[in-house]
Amino acid sequence: MILIVDDDPSVLASLRLVLKQAGWPSHGLASPAEAIAWLETSACELVIQDMNFSRQTSGEEGLALLRRIKTVRPAVPVVLITAWASIALAVEGMKAGASDFVTKPWTNPQILQTVQTALGLAAARRDSGTDVPPREDLDRRYDFDGLIGDHPRFLKVLDLVGRVSDTGASVLVTGESGTGKELVAEALHRNSRRRAGPFVKVNLGGISSTLFESEMFGHVKGAFTDARADRRGRFELADGGTIFLDEIGELDPAAQVKLLRVLQDRTYEVLGSSTTRTVDVRVVSATNRNLAEMVRAGTFREDLLYRLNLIALHLPPLRDRAEDIPTLATRFVQTFAVAHGREGLALDPAALRWLQGLPWPGNVRQLRQWIERAVLVSRRDLLRPDDLAAAAEMEAPAAAADPLPPVGSMTMDEIEKAMILKSLRHHGGNISRVAEALGLSRAALYRRFEKHGIDV
Ligand SMILES: Nc1ncnc2c1ncn2[C@@H]1O[C@H](COP(=O)(O)OP(=O)(O)OP(=O)(O)O)[C@@H](O)[C@H]1O
Ligand SMILES: [Mg+2]
Repeated sequence: MILIVDDDPSVLASLRLVLKQAGWPSHGLASPAEAIAWLETSACELVIQDMNFSRQTSGEEGLALLRRIKTVRPAVPVVLITAWASIALAVEGMKAGASDFVTKPWTNPQILQTVQTALGLAAARRDSGTDVPPREDLDRRYDFDGLIGDHPRFLKVLDLVGRVSDTGASVLVTGESGTGKELVAEALHRNSRRRAGPFVKVNLGGISSTLFESEMFGHVKGAFTDARADRRGRFELADGGTIFLDEIGELDPAAQVKLLRVLQDRTYEVLGSSTTRTVDVRVVSATNRNLAEMVRAGTFREDLLYRLNLIALHLPPLRDRAEDIPTLATRFVQTFAVAHGREGLALDPAALRWLQGLPWPGNVRQLRQWIERAVLVSRRDLLRPDDLAAAAEMEAPAAAADPLPPVGSMTMDEIEKAMILKSLRHHGGNISRVAEALGLSRAALYRRFEKHGIDV
């Protein structure tokens, strides 16, 4: 049973009708007091509540109701309805535990999609134990091909990926550079019923603010000087599938507003045309930046963040799951040995131990690159620490066969700083080459310089 709380009888009636047609029974009530009394005694799967009672614009009563519901029935998902003008109120509501929000005027498909997502997520949460499922269980249920790892922290992420993949909920994937965010985004698509539809990746870091609208929404011929022909936007290309918004933290404020609008009601206008288009997409975004911090600093919109991260997936850095390094390294050696005609090539156990002791600022991508280079460069059949160090352009570790981390008493941070300084010297201060060698973006490399107080 779905409870709808709204003091406008016509809204109540139309919402109930839409839900009924979709096969969901509902109950309508006009006041917060009635709603709480009803919830205390009735089985309820979801609440849809208006935030502006008695034409109140402050939303105090709506917020108070939401908080009461979250006290009485914390597990019941609550979807808020707010005026577009009071989107700040929706953000307050999300902080107070609401599952999602829709802004007025809503459309029927939008309400149905929101309700379905909220119910799906609630079910996914109910089913999730605190235990980490074994890798084999996950592989039986989902397609996680290409995602190597068995560390509990990694399996926890995969488990969540599997459970939310089919809900249609917006997912924000975070994690350092090279931790596998794009692989996870692809897995979300592959394990959803949208898998037959397109998966469209957009690198928002590479789109200038002037071209943002034309890239994302398309343009008609003559929309601006260089628009010599009609062009389809990324949202149109992603219709029926998943759009992957990579490097979402790089969006400037103007583009953030434009994106919010399409995420909000799945409608947009093609540049140079006045007709409004509707699109059916699942949104997955990723960043290696801390968006919550950016919200505090005023450089990222809080309402946009809440739109993007209905589900937040965080990928641990490789150094925090160092137990996975042997598996990853071994699989990479196999792959590249076959690719480069070096079948039979293997890793010396000492090499595995050495790899496990490194900080990996570029995470899995860096490990993969190092292994590929070692496979190409080495002339032996058993890769030793020296071969890897040579391929990685580092000095050979002091005692290669020593089971202890070669760099002795240094902390991970110190090793990382030393690695970066060495790479800088090796490449004569060429930032792009250093970034490449460490498997980092230039921006991520600059953040490391800052962290370690390295002047360049
Ligand atoms: N768990 C994993 N198993 C196998 N390969 C992985 C894994 N994680 C990452 N990789 C590999 O590492 C490389 C980087 O992965 P990916 O592009 O998904 O990282 P990312 O988090 O998107 O990085 P960035 O923030 O720099 O964009 C890819 O070659 C990918 O195949
Ligand atoms: Mg990426």
